[in-house]
Amino acid sequence: MKIGALTLDGLAEGLVTDAAPRIAFALESDVPGEALASARISSGSWSVETDDQVGTRFGGTLEPFTEYAVTVEATGITGAAASATATFRTGRLDTPWTARWITDARLAPPAKKASPPPLVLRRSVATRPGIRRAWIEATALGIYELELNGRKVGDRYFAPGLTSYAHHLQYQTYDVTDLLTGDDELRAIVGGGWAVGSFTYHRTNRIAADRPALLAELHVEYDDGTVELIGTDESWRVATGGRFQAAEWYDGETFDATVDEEALDWAPASVTAPRKRPRLLADYGAPVRRQGELAPVSHVVAPSGEVVYDFGQNFAGVVRARLRGSRGQVVTFRHAEVLVDGELFVKSLRTAKATATYTCVDGEQEYSPRLTYMGFRYVGATGIDPGDLELTAYVLHSDLPEAGTFTSSNELLNRLDDAIRWGGKSNFVDIPTDCPQRDERQGWTGDTAVFASTAAYHFDMTRFFDKWLRDVSAEQSRGGGIPMVVPRAGDKWPVLPTACWGDACVLVPWAEYLARGDVELLRRQYPTMKRFLRAAKRWAGLFSIRPTRRLIWRFPFHFGDWAAPTGGAKEWIARGKWIATAYFANSAGLLARIAEILGEERDAAHYAALRERIIRAFRVVFSDGEGRLNDEFQTGYVLPLHFGMTSGEESAAMAGHLARLIADNGGHLATGFPGTPYLLFALSDHGRLDDAYELLLQTDCPSWLYMVAAGGTTVWERWDALRPDGTVNTADLQTGSDDGGGMVSFNHYAAGAVGDWMYRRIAGIEAVSGGYRTFRVAPKPGGGLTSASGSVRTPYGIVSSSWTLDGGRFALRVEVPVSTTATVELPDGTVHEVGSGVHDFSGAG
Ligand code: BGC
Repeated sequence: MKIGALTLDGLAEGLVTDAAPRIAFALESDVPGEALASARISSGSWSVETDDQVGTRFGGTLEPFTEYAVTVEATGITGAAASATATFRTGRLDTPWTARWITDARLAPPAKKASPPPLVLRRSVATRPGIRRAWIEATALGIYELELNGRKVGDRYFAPGLTSYAHHLQYQTYDVTDLLTGDDELRAIVGGGWAVGSFTYHRTNRIAADRPALLAELHVEYDDGTVELIGTDESWRVATGGRFQAAEWYDGETFDATVDEEALDWAPASVTAPRKRPRLLADYGAPVRRQGELAPVSHVVAPSGEVVYDFGQNFAGVVRARLRGSRGQVVTFRHAEVLVDGELFVKSLRTAKATATYTCVDGEQEYSPRLTYMGFRYVGATGIDPGDLELTAYVLHSDLPEAGTFTSSNELLNRLDDAIRWGGKSNFVDIPTDCPQRDERQGWTGDTAVFASTAAYHFDMTRFFDKWLRDVSAEQSRGGGIPMVVPRAGDKWPVLPTACWGDACVLVPWAEYLARGDVELLRRQYPTMKRFLRAAKRWAGLFSIRPTRRLIWRFPFHFGDWAAPTGGAKEWIARGKWIATAYFANSAGLLARIAEILGEERDAAHYAALRERIIRAFRVVFSDGEGRLNDEFQTGYVLPLHFGMTSGEESAAMAGHLARLIADNGGHLATGFPGTPYLLFALSDHGRLDDAYELLLQTDCPSWLYMVAAGGTTVWERWDALRPDGTVNTADLQTGSDDGGGMVSFNHYAAGAVGDWMYRRIAGIEAVSGGYRTFRVAPKPGGGLTSASGSVRTPYGIVSSSWTLDGGRFALRVEVPVSTTATVELPDGTVHEVGSGVHDFSGAG
C-alpha cells in the first residue's frame, strides 16, 4: 500500500496559507478490498487518529512565516502500512503590515468608463551576503506584476485575482532567495485590472479604488538571525507612461518597447489606502498561469489585407509574438472567435476592442500581453510581414488539475466532450466567467450553477470554488439575495433572490461536496444557503393569500428559460415562475440532505417538509394533477421530472408529454440554461433512454453536436450562434434585429452541462456519498455506441468505468479506489457490490 496523493488545501506542494489547512490523502494498493483502518496525522507535537481520508483539519499551533511538515501514517484493514509527508508554509497570519499602500497621486482618476494607465513603481534594494531566506508578499488594487532586475518574479497572471474587494483581498508570496544579488532593483507594474479599470458591459470603473496601488514587503532573513524588512512607502518612485502604455480587460493592451523608462517623470510614491478595509489573506484560490501554448494551424491573407491566423481552438489567452522589427514599427493583433467572409467577426465582442498593440525596437524581440487576456480562435495581424513574425499563443486559466476523462466510439461526441472541457478552461479565469471575449467576463451565477457538476467531473475545482463561494457568501444581501454576478465588481443589479442564478449558492457547494467530500465546505456555506431559501420563501409568499400560491415563486425577477432556442428575453423571462418554483423545491430538497449530513436534524425535517409543500403547490397550480402542465414547455417538464417532484403514473405521463413536445418541435430540444443540464436525465431516467440519445447525437440545429459539426471547438451561448445559413446570430434580445452585437458568444459553458449526463449515464459514474466514498457505476449504453469509458480522479483515487458492446454482449471494467465501495449496475439489471480493485463484468447488452 502507498499514499498516492497527499494534499493540503488541495495542493500537493507550495501551499502558503493563513488558515489551518485541510488534509486529504489517497491510498493505492494491489490488494483487492483494501481500505483504510486508521491513520495518524501529525505535525510536531500535534497529532490525531482518524479513519477519514478527506476531512481532517490541521490542528497544530500556527506561527507566521513558518514551514510545517505534515506526516500521514496509514494502516489498511489488511495490516499494510504507508506513510507520506507534505509541507506547507504559513503566511502572515495576523502580522500587521509595516508596508503602506502606495500609488501615484499625480494620476487623475480615470474618466467614466475608462481604465487608468498602468503604474510603474520601483525601489533599489541593498542586501548583505549570507541570506538564509528572502521572500516578497505583495498585493494590489488593480493587477500587478513584480520584476526583480528586469525579470518577472513568479509565474502567475492577474495577481491578486478578483475577490469581493470590500471584504477580502488575496496577497501572494514569492520566494526570491536565489534572485537577490546584493544590489537589486525591485519593480512593480500595476494595471487597473478589476479594481480600478473598466469592467462589466456598463464599463463601470473604479469599483474599489480611484488609482492603482501596490502593497508589498520584502523580508530578508540572514544566517545570523537578523531580519530586514523593506516595504512599500514614500521611498519608492513611481511613474506612468512606461512600456505598458494601456491595459484593460476588454480593449486589450498597448505596449511600446521603445520607451526608455529611465527617462520617465519619476516622483516619490504617495501613500494611499483602500476605500474599504478588506481582510488581506494569503492566496486561497487557484491562480491563473500559462497552461499551454498553441501554434496556429494556418494563416491566410484576408480580403482586407490583414493576415489571419487560425489557432484551431477557441480559448482564453494571449498571443506570444516573436518578431523581427524596426524601431517604431507598430504591430497590431486583433482577436475574434469566428470569421465571416474571411474577415475577423468582431461585432459580437460589442464594445471590447480585444486588441494588442506593440511598438517594436530594432531586431529580434518578443511580446506577449501580461495585463489582459482575450477569448479567441483567430488573430489578425497588421503592421508586419508574416515572414518576420512567429506567432503562437499562451492558454491562460486558473490552475485546475484535470480530473476527468471521457471517450466513446462516437467521434463527434468525443469532440463535444473536448469542447465542454475547453469551455471550462476558457471560463475559469480566476473567477467563473460567462464568457472570455466580449465586454462581460463576469461571474454570472446562473452559468456556474448549471455547469458546476460537469466542471467537478472534468477538473479538481477545490480551490477555485472555495474562493468563489466565499465571495458568494460575502456578497449575499441581508435579505438573503445572491448577486446575479459574483464578485459584484461594478454590477448594478439589485441583490435579490433569483432562481437558478441564486441557487448557485446551493448547487455549487453541493456539486463540489459530492466530488470532493469536504463537509467543512458545506458547513461554511450552509448559513448562506439557509438565508437564500428563506428569502425565496418570503418572496414567494408575497402578494398572494391562497396557501398553495404562497409557494409559487414569481417575484422579484427570474431569468426564466434563459437562452432557449426560440424567442427572446421576454419569452424566456415569462417562464420564470415554473422554473423558479421547481428550483425552489430542488434546493429545499438539497438543504434537507445537507442538513442531515451536518447533523442538523430539525432543519432536515423542516426542509424536507418545505420541499413537499412546494411540490404540492407546483402540482396544484401548474398541472392537471395527472402530469400535464397547463402551460407546456420543455423545461417545464424537465425540472419536476429530474428534481424528483413526481412519481409513478405522474412521472410517466410527464415524460410522455415531454417526449411529445420534443416530437412536435421536429425532434429537437427547446431548453434554456435552467433546463438543458437535466433534459437528458428527465428522459433517460423515465424510460426514454432512446429519446435521450437521439437528442444527444443529432447534428442539426438546435443540438449539441450541431455546434461541433458546424466547427465549434467550445460550447455556444445560443444554440444557433452560427445559424445554419452561415450568419452569426447577433439578434437583439428585445427587438430581434441583427444590427448590433446582440448576445452571442461562442464560448459559454452552460449548455455544456450535458457533460454531466455523459459521465453519469454513458460512462455511468456517479458519486453516492461525498468524495465518492461510495459510488455507483451504471452505464446506460445506447445511441449505437459500441464503447465508452470515463474516469474521475476522486480524493480516494481514480474511479473508472470502461465498457464495450459487441454483438449484444456487454463487457464492463470498473476501477474502485482503496477505501471506497461501488454499486455496479449492468444494463441487464444485475447489481454487484464491490470494494477496491479492478473488476470485470459482462452480461447481455
Ligand atoms: C451572460 C449570461 C448571464 C446572463 C444573465 C448574459 O449577458 O452572458 O451568461 O447568465 O446575461 O442574464
